[in-house]
Amino acid sequence: MLYNPPRPAPILGVGQSLQRAKSATLDSAATCRAKKRATHLPAYGIIGAQWGDEGKGKVVDFLAERADIVVRFSGGNNAGHTVINHMGEFALHLVPAGIFWPHVTAVIGPGVVVDPAALLEEIDSLEARGVDTKRLLVSDHAHVVMPYHIQLDQLEEEARGRNAIGTTGRGIGPAYVDKTARAGIRIGDLTDEAYLGERLAGVVASKNQVLTKVYGAEPIDEPALYKQCLEFGVRLQPYIASVEQHIGDALKRGERVVLEGAQGAMLDLDHGTYPYVTSSNVTIGGACSGLGVPPQQIHAIIGIFKAYTSRVGAGPMATELDDAIGVDIRERAHEYGVTTGRPRRVGWFDGIAAAHSTQINGFTSAVLTRLDVLDGMSSVKVCVAYEADGDRYERFPSLPGLLDRATPIYEEWPGWTSPTAGATQLGQLPAEARAYVDRIEQIIGCPIDLISTGPKRHESITVRPLVPEL
Ligand code: GDP
Ligand code: IMO
Ligand code: MG
Repeated sequence: MLYNPPRPAPILGVGQSLQRAKSATLDSAATCRAKKRATHLPAYGIIGAQWGDEGKGKVVDFLAERADIVVRFSGGNNAGHTVINHMGEFALHLVPAGIFWPHVTAVIGPGVVVDPAALLEEIDSLEARGVDTKRLLVSDHAHVVMPYHIQLDQLEEEARGRNAIGTTGRGIGPAYVDKTARAGIRIGDLTDEAYLGERLAGVVASKNQVLTKVYGAEPIDEPALYKQCLEFGVRLQPYIASVEQHIGDALKRGERVVLEGAQGAMLDLDHGTYPYVTSSNVTIGGACSGLGVPPQQIHAIIGIFKAYTSRVGAGPMATELDDAIGVDIRERAHEYGVTTGRPRRVGWFDGIAAAHSTQINGFTSAVLTRLDVLDGMSSVKVCVAYEADGDRYERFPSLPGLLDRATPIYEEWPGWTSPTAGATQLGQLPAEARAYVDRIEQIIGCPIDLISTGPKRHESITVRPLVPEL
């Protein structure tokens, strides 16, 4: 049987809670709470639980059918979210995966860093394929990824030499550095000629010092950049909005807001495998700060786990398979980056990293994706502990050196011969696949409510509704 831990109580619908409140002469604490919830209906977080590319795009597209708003809250176009639905196959980098549903407003939140050229290209290519982008909003507070951020990302990577992080080269790190250093340009600034000119003058002068004196590169052509920024501002104008207010009002109206995570928890700036991480908080806390959504409005936090592990870029990965099995999984799953096309490193499911991810996100439920990729393997392995320097670790080690030296301790489970690919009912899973899912569920410590068995929108098994309302 699938593990069935205690679930959070389902929230009351507006009608239900008000009716109950009327029948009580004096409101009990519980009734007050229910009333409060009825006027502040929740948001749902969809979080990558590993090193990214878990299948968030597919899951968000699927869930968005019953959502009103889908919003990205962190990262930038380092993300690559694949969606395969009735309109075709899409690789989204900045536009939220709810864009395919005509009733959904797709929002790029203040915590995202936006490369205007990349966003406009994505909008154009979606429009060219018949996807209406009129319901797209971009936060005026989102920071701009400037051409010099992209240049610096590449120069910094070169300078790191053999310690390179393996970034996506999209300027994400340098853009977040400038945001923190209060030297960023924000999307709203692109529409204010005078303010932009003043701001850019200060920022460009200091960037030119770095570019010319540290890296021996050409200085930025400031007038050309200014002109380009104003053009971006004109083109993006119809999309720019104060999205914090929009989302706050929507939550008050009882609309459903899906928070679309990017990257994965193990790439989180604070909680991941630092320094081999991205430059933002991609865990659930990042949704609160990156959007201005208070934590109590997030009713469900759903971790997306791949049935094995993949990672793009450098950094420790204890369960990495450097052998023929690794190559086999990579090829059968086509594990190549959606953003950069790089081959992804693949390995067995890392239960130690997965449990860490549940802990730092507080997942209320999980989705297991790509189970079908393991179809036909004679056995499958799950890492249940690490060994390093003669010691056994059952919790994620915090010291990077230790993580580098860690070797996995595996449990080996029998594989399955009949396919799970395309299954939509739990009963269609072979017993061995069920046992594997059960074991992963125990390890990650939250219920697996959805099992994805293929890349297309409806190729999944709903074990239980992910959240009562969705
Ligand atoms: P994301 O960044 O988390 O959205 O994931 P990516 O799009 O980068 O990578 C996930 C890949 O897995 C994409 O090619 C998806 O089409 C594919 N995918 C998602 N779920 C499944 C599944 O259950 N089975 C298979 N075979 N492919 C899946
Ligand atoms: P999605 O949303 C997988 C990785 C890069 C690199 C590190 C830092 O599709 O899951 P960056 O360009 O962010 O400074 O690179 O983070 N990375 C991802 N890996 N999926 C992603 O996004 C990623 N976004 C960044 O490969 O190792
Ligand atoms: Mg991806």
